[in-house]
Amino acid sequence: MSDSRLRALKPSLGGAEGRLDALLISGPPNIRYLSGFTGSNALLLVTAGGATLLTDPRYTLQAARQTQLPVRVGKGPLGALAADIAKRRKFKRLGVERNRISFETWEALRNALPAACELVPVTNAVENLRMVKLPEEIALIRDSVETNSRAFRRALKSFRPGMRESELAAEIDYQARRAGAEAPAFETIVASGERSAFPHARPTSEKIAGKTILLIDMGCFQAGYASDMTRTLHAGKAPKAFKQVYRDVLDAQLAAIDAVRPGVTAGEVDRAARKALTKSGHGQAFVHSTGHGLGLEIHEPPRIGEKGDIVLETGFVITIEPGVYFEGWGGIRIEDTVVVTESGCEVLTPTTKELIEL
Ligand code: GLY
Ligand code: MN
Ligand code: MN
Repeated sequence: MSDSRLRALKPSLGGAEGRLDALLISGPPNIRYLSGFTGSNALLLVTAGGATLLTDPRYTLQAARQTQLPVRVGKGPLGALAADIAKRRKFKRLGVERNRISFETWEALRNALPAACELVPVTNAVENLRMVKLPEEIALIRDSVETNSRAFRRALKSFRPGMRESELAAEIDYQARRAGAEAPAFETIVASGERSAFPHARPTSEKIAGKTILLIDMGCFQAGYASDMTRTLHAGKAPKAFKQVYRDVLDAQLAAIDAVRPGVTAGEVDRAARKALTKSGHGQAFVHSTGHGLGLEIHEPPRIGEKGDIVLETGFVITIEPGVYFEGWGGIRIEDTVVVTESGCEVLTPTTKELIEL
C-alpha cells in the first residue's frame, strides 16, 4: 500500500523547489496516507531510497503493526531525531511541509542542523497526491457516507417537537457510533428556526419548535475516512415560501452536480451553483463556497470556490453544498458527497433530497 504512495511522492523530491535530499512529513494525515501509522506523535523522513518513521516509545508496538517501513523510536523532540539522521547522511537540502510543520520542530531542526543544510518549505506535496482517491479509499469513503446516512435515518426516529437541538445532535452522534463510526468528522450541526441562518451554527439548548426550519449538517470518520452531509428539513408542514427556496437551493445543488466531471475547474462547478442561485434571486444569500475535497480530513483540497483553478480528475471526492441564509428567517443548505468518475460523477450520499417534513 504505502510503497506505491511513496513512489508517487518521489517527483516532489526534485520538483518546483529544486532537488531535495529528503522531505520531512509532519502532517498526521499525510503520515497516515504514506505509512499507515495513525499515532499522534510522528515524523516521516522520505528520501529517494525509502522512508523512515520516527515516533516515541508509546507507539513502538503500534508502529510495528501499522507500517512496513523502518521505524526509529526516540525520546525527546522528534525534530532532533530527524536532524541526527540528516547530519549523519550529510543532507544539504531538507524539504519540510510549509503548512504542517510546527514551529517547535522547525526550531529543533534549525538548532541541530549545520548551517550548510538548508530547510526548504514545500507546499501541498502529499495533499496534491491525496486529491485523487485510490479505489480502496473510495470504498472506505462510501462506507463512511453510508454509515452517516444510516445514523441520520435512525436519529430522526427519535425526533419530537420540543426536543433540544443539543439532544438531537447527541442522538445523531450516538447513532453514528452505533452504526460503525469512530468519531464525528466535525461538531454536528443542528440548527432550528432563525439559527439555521448561521452556516456553522452550534447546537444550543433551545427547543425545536413544532413548526420550523431544521438544518442538520453531520459527518463521521470511519476507518479514518470522512463523510459530510447536510439536509434541511421542516418540523411540521412547510410553508409555501420555504418550499420555493428549498427548490431553488436544490436546483442549484443539482446544477453543480451536473457540472462535475474530469477536466472542469473547481471554479466552474462553483459558478454552476452560483449562477442558478443568482437566477432565482438568491445570489447574495449564498455566502460560502460550493464545496471541498474530503478524505482523511473533513476539509482538504480542492476548495470548490469561485476562484478554484484546480482541474477535477477522476477519483476526486468532493462535497457539493450550496446554501442560502437570511437573517431573521433561517437558512437552507443541501450537501452531498460525490466522487468524480470518467463520465461525470457519482453521488455517494444515499439520503433523499425530497423535502422531509417531520
Ligand atoms: N460541516 C462543515 C462542512 O459542511 O463543510
Ligand atoms: Mn457539512
Ligand atoms: Mn462540507
